[in-house]
Order: sequence, then C-alpha cells, then structure tokens
Amino acid sequence: MKTKYFAQLYLAWLATATAALASQNAQVPLQDSNVDFIPGSVSPSIGSPPYSDDLVALHKSLVQIPSITGSEGNATAFLRSYLQGRGFTVETQPAAPGRDNLLAYYGTTRQTRILVTSHIDTVPPYWPYERRPASSSSADGSDELWGRGTVDAKGSIASVVTAVEQLHHFHSIHEGDVAVLVDVGEERGGDGIRAANDLGLAWETVIFGEPTRLKLARGHKGVLGFNITAHGVAGHSSYPELGANAIDRLVRGLSALAAVSLPWSESFGNTTLNVGTVYGGVAANVIPELAVATVSVRVAASTPEAIQQLIKEAVLAAEPALELDFTYGIGPVSTDYDIEGFETIVLNYGTDIPGLKGNHKRYLYGPGDYLVTHSDHEHLSISDLEQAVEGYKVLITESLKNK
Ligand SMILES: *[C@@H]1O[C@H](CO)[C@@H](O)[C@H](O)[C@H]1NC(C)=O
Ligand SMILES: *[C@@H]1O[C@H](CO)[C@@H](O)[C@H](O)[C@H]1NC(C)=O
Ligand SMILES: *[C@@H]1O[C@H](CO)[C@@H](O)[C@H](O)[C@H]1NC(C)=O
Repeated sequence: MKTKYFAQLYLAWLATATAALASQNAQVPLQDSNVDFIPGSVSPSIGSPPYSDDLVALHKSLVQIPSITGSEGNATAFLRSYLQGRGFTVETQPAAPGRDNLLAYYGTTRQTRILVTSHIDTVPPYWPYERRPASSSSADGSDELWGRGTVDAKGSIASVVTAVEQLHHFHSIHEGDVAVLVDVGEERGGDGIRAANDLGLAWETVIFGEPTRLKLARGHKGVLGFNITAHGVAGHSSYPELGANAIDRLVRGLSALAAVSLPWSESFGNTTLNVGTVYGGVAANVIPELAVATVSVRVAASTPEAIQQLIKEAVLAAEPALELDFTYGIGPVSTDYDIEGFETIVLNYGTDIPGLKGNHKRYLYGPGDYLVTHSDHEHLSISDLEQAVEGYKVLITESLKNK
C-alpha cells in the first residue's frame, strides 16, 4: 500500500515538475494508478525530488536543536531566521515568556485563506539525530532519520515548509493564500495553540501536521484525565483494626474502574483507559494514610461529561470514601477527509485541533508512524518526508479550489 501510494505522489511530483500539478485532469489517472514505484527503477536524477537535500537538511537542523516542551526557544529562533532567509514574513507571538509561536506568510497579507500548522515542542528526553541506512524491513529503501522529534512533529514542520515554498516557487500559491503556524506547547496542554486564538485571524481551512503514516485522518479520539485519591487512617500495621488502609480503598476503586463498560462507536472504536501512575504509603509496617492514582481515558464515543458520570458512579459505589478529580475532558474530534487520493485513518492520540477556535475545515496529515513517537526508536525515512511534501501540496492546492 505504501509503495502504491508513493507511486501516486511521485507521479504527482513529476506532474508538478512539468507544470501540470493539481489540475483535476492530472489527478484522475493518478488515483487509479496501479503502478508500484520501485526505488532505483528510475534514473537517480528523477529518483528523488529536487528539493530533497534542502528538506533533509532543514529536518536535521530542527531535530538537532532540543526543544522539549517549555524549552522551545532555540529551535524557534533557528526556524525564524530560516524562514526569513527563505523570503517569508515571520511574526513571533509569545505564548509564554521565552516561548513563541511563529506565523510565516508571503508579503504583507497575514490573513490568509489557509493555515498549515504543526508544533515544534517534543516530549522528553532528547535523543540525538542520526542518519542510518535503510533497514532491511524498509519498504522504500531510503535512509532513515532517527532521533527525538524526527516524527513528532519536526517531520511535519520540514515537509510543510518545503511544500509551501515549492508551491510558491512554481506560482501555484500567491500572497494571501497560505500561512504557516509553528507553535509551542502541544505536548503539554496546548498553550501555544490557545495563544494562537489571539492572533486575530480566521481561516477557511486549517491543515494540522502530525504523524498519520501519510494517511488523511477522519478524526481522533478525545481524552479525559482524572485522578483518584484515597484517604485512610495511619497506624501500626499489626493493629489494622485501628486504622484504615488507603491503598486497599484505592485498589477496590481501581478494580471497579476496570469493570466499567465504556462507550464505543463505529467511527472511533473503543473508549480505552490507562491507569498511568499509582502511589501511596510510606512503609510496609505502616497503615497507609494516602494513595493516589492518575488515569487517562481515550474517548471514542459519547461525551467526556457522560463518561465522567459513569466512572464516578461505578467507583464510588465500590468505595464511597474515594475522591475523583477530573482535570480535562475533550470528546472525539472529527476531521475532514473529502480530498481524493489519500487512504484515510482514525487516530487515538490527541492534537492541537480542538484548541484552535473557528469554523474552518480541518485536515490532519503528516509523515511518519505514530507508533514510534514518544519512544526511544522514533524515526522515519527520507521518502516519508518527500511523500509528505507532495501530500501537503495536494491538500493546499485542493483546499484553494473550494470557493
Ligand atoms: C540554547 O542554546 C544555548 C547556546 O547553545 C545553550 O546554552 C542553551 O542551554 C540552550 N537552551 C535550551 C533551553 O536548550
Ligand atoms: C473493542 O473492544 C472489544 C471488546 O473488548 C474487542 O473485541 C474489540 O476488538 C475492540 N476493538 C478495537 C478496534 O480495538
Ligand atoms: C489530582 O487532581 C487535582 C485536581 O485537578 C490536582 O490538583 C492534583 O495535583 C492531582 N494529583 C495528581 C497526583 O495528579
């Protein structure tokens, strides 16, 4: 499937190179194409697109600068001067002291029809950049790029910037068509995207860059976070009748929680639940006074409020003394997928999408495998990046056709 898809986009690139991209005529046969692109089967001069070296270099620079949420400053500063050097007008918007969003566009028209956005922050810890030869399991034979952020989401940033530059270079977009927003804080609460609500702008279409394996998302699950606190009465462990064991209470609550039947939907699948941390107690011979668990629910149906109610009732029925603190809740997020030529997918992870207000169409797309993000083996292939450039170009040019 991947190679077939590459063939489509590869042919789409050839079409651009011959100045015919994105016309409906050019696209129809491409979607029906059954040709598998086999790396090396074409001459090297057209085996990778002309922008490939710049794309890989931009991606490398971005990954080499650590930008764990809260410390994005150096990476943002680099990207700002990169974009300015490439002819963009760049605005910085403080999301927090020392942490800026970047808004880049051509000319002086900051209000554009389309916004393409991704985030520069990564989860910890930092893993250095490394280029490795294609692994034997690799489908496309191109080198792999390893390190923190290669996939989530610096692969998206590098491909988005390259796509917009390419479209501009070939006069497929003009001033007022497209802006790029690179924000901070996506991995920890989304303060960057919330700040972007104060830019005073609104768009017809917003394209969000996150790893989707180059598929166009139909949506992603929501999320509900909470913690459960059990209080007890401390005492000597040899006289349990004199105390009340907070860990026992918490365990009864968690066991009731595991038995709750959570809603599911055709579109988003099962609502799932993860008890992420548990702590409590001070020593084996002391009756614990306090125990706390933190939980994250991935919401696939219904509303966070209704699920909150379900969970509360079940847990409190098992152990009335427990306290439940719900910290945040977002329902399932639907995205648009009305552009042809893409496989589609539903994702389990959260994004900036619900944080950006407005009545825009929303697309979610990007290079790399979401299953390796946040891991110590985060990586993608160079051909992933190249295909993403072509994918973003199609999303942008097709969105511009909507009047
Ligand atoms: C930013 O770069 C400077 C100079 O290389 C370095 O000293 C500093 O620690 C970096 N800041 C962060 C937050 O990584
Ligand atoms: C949803 O849960 C049911 C019951 O536990 C399971 O059989 C099914 O495979 C799950 N579906 C998905 C998509 O994980
Ligand atoms: C539990 O939730 C409350 C309320 O949001 C919060 O103040 C507290 O820090 C949380 N505790 C843990 C351990 O996450």
